[in-house]
Amino acid sequence: MKILGISAHYHDAAAALIVDGMPVAAVQEERLSRRKNDAAFPMTAIEWCLEQGGLEPDDLDAVVFYERPMLKFDRILTCALRAFPYSWRSFPHAMKNTLGEKLWVRGIISSQLGVPRRKVLFAEHHRSHAAAAFLTAPTRAAAILTADGVGEWATMTVGRGARGPERTEISLLREIRFPHSLGMLYSTFTAYLGFPVNEGEYKVMGLASYGRPTMADAVRKVVHRMSDGAFRLDMDYFDFHTSARRSFSTRFVDMFGPPRDPFEPIDLESPGGRRFADCAASVQLVLEDILVDAAKALHRETGLPDLCLGGGVALNGVANHRILQESGFERVFVPPAPGDAGCALGAALYADRIHFANPDREFPDHPFWGPAVDGDDLARLAREDRLPVEDHDDFELIERVALDLAVGRIVGWMDGALELGPRALGHRSILAAPHAVEMRDRLNRDIKHREEFRPFAPVVPAEDADRYFELPPGGKRLARFMSGVFPVRPEWRERLAAITHVDGTARVQVLEPGMAPRLYALLKAYGRVSGIPILLNTSFNLAGEPIVNRSVEGYLTFRRCGMDVLVAGQTRVTKRVLEKAA
Ligand SMILES: [Fe+2]
Repeated sequence: MKILGISAHYHDAAAALIVDGMPVAAVQEERLSRRKNDAAFPMTAIEWCLEQGGLEPDDLDAVVFYERPMLKFDRILTCALRAFPYSWRSFPHAMKNTLGEKLWVRGIISSQLGVPRRKVLFAEHHRSHAAAAFLTAPTRAAAILTADGVGEWATMTVGRGARGPERTEISLLREIRFPHSLGMLYSTFTAYLGFPVNEGEYKVMGLASYGRPTMADAVRKVVHRMSDGAFRLDMDYFDFHTSARRSFSTRFVDMFGPPRDPFEPIDLESPGGRRFADCAASVQLVLEDILVDAAKALHRETGLPDLCLGGGVALNGVANHRILQESGFERVFVPPAPGDAGCALGAALYADRIHFANPDREFPDHPFWGPAVDGDDLARLAREDRLPVEDHDDFELIERVALDLAVGRIVGWMDGALELGPRALGHRSILAAPHAVEMRDRLNRDIKHREEFRPFAPVVPAEDADRYFELPPGGKRLARFMSGVFPVRPEWRERLAAITHVDGTARVQVLEPGMAPRLYALLKAYGRVSGIPILLNTSFNLAGEPIVNRSVEGYLTFRRCGMDVLVAGQTRVTKRVLEKAA
């Protein structure tokens, strides 16, 4: 059976193709269109997936959209009516932006792809999140917790999943509904702190570790805890349900003080800067407490050892670590793409295993479902510009690049198929030595052009991880796709200064050799040269751009920034000045 999954029209559009229960291809539209967070109907991603599967649209048995547009319409209409007359400004905006083409999705899919309308199916948004989390994890039975901004009505669900030879089940036991939403709570603080919503949430988490949660009690006034583990937002403090322009109300500003001007840099030495850091730390703490309590209750209720986390909130690695340590679950699985892009895959899997009741299949435990990189393309581009190009066998290449890294060069590393999800997990990475703060500052200044408080992440071979990081039981699994933030062992912090955050932690990726064998070999080679088998690993993109896909994008990025070496497949390219210096 051939099933195409689609997510679109909100943020992070994507397509995924499942054939006979196994993933064939999945890619975010932004990686192909080169427009960051592209939410447009992902025609290019769909075409690429079909081409990868050698299929025509006619061959598809079903096309599954990642949410139910009519339910979403119902939510927006109901909220607009409830808030009337305050909402008269936001309603047309919501209709246009949030819904827009969504209502006509069946018609759009049918006409754009040329598939009959009866083949177009819809999976509820949080069922798509739940499927993306549970059906991709190596577990037969698990509790499931999903949390995001909002889908149709649900913003958080808890449930359980079971996979067996006879049938696969996902039952969602309870949900919290819009406007009560952890994602919206965090996004509101993201906007208040002057960062762009839907991408600035990482910055809030990074900033949080510079502050103290001195305003946690104030945050608890805007989000009330219920005795059964649920929560409610006090809507007097929010405007996102009635306004298209501002998500927090005047009362919110009375409580927390004036919002940060997005164009003003944060000076952590000043009282104003510290107030913002404390505010970030406070909302982070309250979010963690709510998630930990919900997970604890779910553990008591299900008695299962495994938990699968889905939805954009599952990108919060600090919260994930606390859930692993405090909820009672032995293993916590977070997929590489827990957000809406991963819903394309989740919706397709949901249709396959549950709607069509096809047999269960073991999902390959990696994120590499996008286009493959071609080293010959890179060689051609670099030769046209008369840059030094070398082609090596694997062994030579890895030894060469390990030496590059050891002398402080910054390496663009492209290998195999592109990752699905927001994180570079070894196939489209910028790699560098993890030891000195100067390297972190150079990367922030010359390459990523971003705030100094943003940390960089390390990657370490699985068998070496415990030596350098304090990983609790289950920590290696959570770190497989960089989903947890863990302490760097104090005795290593100085020698790992470029990847150790101000609070002594790191969002580490623990790499098993089978997942990205060439990066694994590079880590080992670097360990032989430097004594420490760890590299700084950040996504291969410049600020505001999507992660690179093909050689040409990697090459153009390499030419435009302070990167020294670029590798794609077997090809290694350097800048001319570098060769002169060597
Ligand atoms: Fe979502």
